[in-house]
Amino acid sequence: MEYVIEMNHITKVFGNFKALDDVTLKVKKGEIHALLGENGAGKSTLMSVLFGLYQAEKGEIKINGNQVQINNPNDANNLNIGMVHQHFKLVHNFTVLESIVLGRETVKAGFLKKDDARKKVIALSDRYKLKIDPDAYIADITVGMQQRVEILKMLYCDSDILIFDEPTAVLTPQEIEELMKIMKELVKEGKSIIFISHKLNEIKEVADRCSVLRKGKYIGTVEVASTTKEEMSEMMVGRKVNFNIEKTDLPTGNAVLEVKNLTIKAKNSNKNVVNNVSFAAKKGEILCIAGIDGNGQSELVYGITGLMPLNEGKILLNGKDVTKESIRKKCLDGMAHIPEDRHKHGLVLDFDLQENAVLQTYYESRFQRHGFIKFNAVREYAKKLIKQYDIRSPREEDSVVRNMSGGNQQKVIIARELDRNPEIVIAVQPTRGLDIGATEYIHKQLIAQRDQGKAVLLVSLELDEVMNVSDRIIVIYEGEIVADLNPKEITVQELGLYMSGVERSVNYEKKA
Ligand SMILES: Nc1ncnc2c1ncn2[C@@H]1O[C@H](COP(=O)(O)OP(=O)(O)O)[C@@H](O)[C@H]1O
Ligand SMILES: [Mg+2]
Repeated sequence: MEYVIEMNHITKVFGNFKALDDVTLKVKKGEIHALLGENGAGKSTLMSVLFGLYQAEKGEIKINGNQVQINNPNDANNLNIGMVHQHFKLVHNFTVLESIVLGRETVKAGFLKKDDARKKVIALSDRYKLKIDPDAYIADITVGMQQRVEILKMLYCDSDILIFDEPTAVLTPQEIEELMKIMKELVKEGKSIIFISHKLNEIKEVADRCSVLRKGKYIGTVEVASTTKEEMSEMMVGRKVNFNIEKTDLPTGNAVLEVKNLTIKAKNSNKNVVNNVSFAAKKGEILCIAGIDGNGQSELVYGITGLMPLNEGKILLNGKDVTKESIRKKCLDGMAHIPEDRHKHGLVLDFDLQENAVLQTYYESRFQRHGFIKFNAVREYAKKLIKQYDIRSPREEDSVVRNMSGGNQQKVIIARELDRNPEIVIAVQPTRGLDIGATEYIHKQLIAQRDQGKAVLLVSLELDEVMNVSDRIIVIYEGEIVADLNPKEITVQELGLYMSGVERSVNYEKKA
């Protein structure tokens, strides 16, 4: 039997919107099969059909040549299909170990056989180098570890068809390398993998074949080794894509955002997660904070934007001390924030698009009168943003944001933040998880802000993005700035040495 999975003529409709239109996917046993497509192309929906979360209106699924009916994730598990979801579905107040064995508890005389479970989990974690702390709570661990928990969960259930829905979107370069190795190891053992990614470098590195979806339609399947990245991206977006970021040199102006000796303590300890950090972001520059995930960059931005209290330090906006100002006041003073966690801090998922478009501005007189929202004005405003920022969703301004694709959710935030005409745009991993088309778009928007003389502070884990988009790079390592670099004067490898703490610039010597 050549194919472990055959999904034939799958059609899935939401309301009157065809998310999948006669899609075919055939996965060979023991291969890594990439599924490529822009945001909203239908990749997650197709996988949800395979995993039993959605029922297709039309089409058939065969597993190892036998036609099957997959009505729910339990059916999928029984067919040894496992899935790591794009947005993890872990329960926050469970421990790592509990999360992995959840639903698969072995019971002996009414007692959970926790010791056996623990042994099996630790054995799997050693074997596949999936480093975890079995007793940590999900709420306290990094996204990287949450993902390892999800992978272990699949392996714990002995799944042999593994679906990874955009697994690398949340990982550091080092974690991505590890994941690639793990995937190669897994197929060597006869497992089959469906790997969803927009990153053509990754697909080139690990995948054997690649199927492409565009706007719910099946475009084709290619052998990865004999297909170029340009060819694959053209299949994906339906046009040629410019991989080079075009940017003219620009003189920089006065400092817009100045951060002085900022120190932030970790939540439950005395450790400084941000230690005496100072820098200035100037008009007309994209200043990038580069660093491996977990080195204090998230907290630094939380501190600057007001989501986390400071222990020491000052923040100036156009020379004015805003250290003690509220988040709303900082917004009014010209600070825009494209947050790292777009679900937690960027959007209210159960609100619709138009409500999300005016989250910080609903009280302005253009949207409100005597305490009553001017619904028509809000709707018109949302329509304008949808058009200007090319936000795509099934129900336009009435779409509940939760049901929109990640790239389009991100566009809602970008539209809202940039349309306020800010002085400084703080963008944290703005292209995380987004496809080439959306990434290209967001980079253009950030560059346009810079070209208009705004300051842009970009926090990124993506080395390509750091090197190509920024005008200046400061590197954060263990909560401290360790270098201030010109991207034109360094290589990616050199940058990596600063990020991993091997190198440190002389002007940033560690203080005793
Ligand atoms: N539960 C749902 N209800 C309505 N529309 C949905 C739902 N899930 C997904 N969609 C829509 O279907 C399209 C495909 O989404 P998705 O499969 O998540 O895309 P991808 O994973 O390729 O980015 C998107 O336009 C999305 O907004
Ligand atoms: Mg998806």
